[in-house]
Amino acid sequence: MKLEFPVENTVKTRSSIRTYEDKPIDAKVKKQIKDYMAALSNPFSVKVSLQLLETAASNEKMGTYGVIKGAKDYIGSMVSESELNLEALGYSFEKLILYLTNLGIGTCWLGGTFNRNQFSNALEVKEKDLFPAISPIGYPAGKKRLADTLIRKFAKSEQRKNWNELFFLNDFSTPLTQEEAKEFAFPLEMVRLAPSASNKQPWRIIKAQDGFHFYEAKAPGYSDKMSFDIQRVDIGIAACHFHMAALEKDLPGNFEKLTNVGIVPPANTYYIFSYILS
Ligand SMILES: Cc1cc2nc3c(=O)[nH]c(=O)nc-3n(C[C@H](O)[C@H](O)[C@H](O)COP(=O)(O)O)c2cc1C
Repeated sequence: MKLEFPVENTVKTRSSIRTYEDKPIDAKVKKQIKDYMAALSNPFSVKVSLQLLETAASNEKMGTYGVIKGAKDYIGSMVSESELNLEALGYSFEKLILYLTNLGIGTCWLGGTFNRNQFSNALEVKEKDLFPAISPIGYPAGKKRLADTLIRKFAKSEQRKNWNELFFLNDFSTPLTQEEAKEFAFPLEMVRLAPSASNKQPWRIIKAQDGFHFYEAKAPGYSDKMSFDIQRVDIGIAACHFHMAALEKDLPGNFEKLTNVGIVPPANTYYIFSYILS
């Protein structure tokens, strides 16, 4: 199936952009982005609200603790309380980010380093809604700032875990090889290259008889300061990359939360959902 963006090239092109050019996004392109946002859906039947915040005309400077420079527009993401809500948010927002990447627009997932109160007022977030993340959007500046380079170095943003730490066959004791993954080596590789909070890469995937089981390897204490588990957003991002790759290669299946997978996960590792082959 032909998607709105070529998956491999877009996934490999995307990286977190923290320094932006002064150049505004053209009104026509903004309209295209808004239309895409309004039409976005996810396979978890959860309503995710994505909103554009334009700050060019206002005097207020949006707070990102010096992490982001030069951006005038932001996208905020909200969701209400329901099962798989944070995963759905990760999926939908990442799909938008890949679409923007393909348009040459830079983004950066921000789950921590932004003034949540200020953004939540500007976006009129409903009191009961969760407001897990935002992203600036704009044109990437040619030259990175020192702060930018230091953040990337600190998070080891250029690195990714190897296959044998992330993907397994039937249970958690047998690493999955690319040969064994066959045509699914591509969707799994697209997961491996995905962004994640602090680049912790909490995705663990087991290939079983009838599909792929997705688990979250929770970093102990990591989300304790927040009212939600940001690493569940990472699992939704992984689902997006996996699904886009599978759709592009015509490998049909459906995401389902199974009641009994029958696999014992390691400590701090939790079952989230499966991609059941059809
Ligand atoms: C859910 C989520 C939250 C993130 N929160 C922040 C943040 O608060 N501040 C920040 O500078 N980067 C944040 N990042 C960006 C990650 O540090 C980045 O994706 C990772 O280091 C990999 O680098 P890359 O995106 O350039 O591939 C976040 C990423 C994700 C997926």
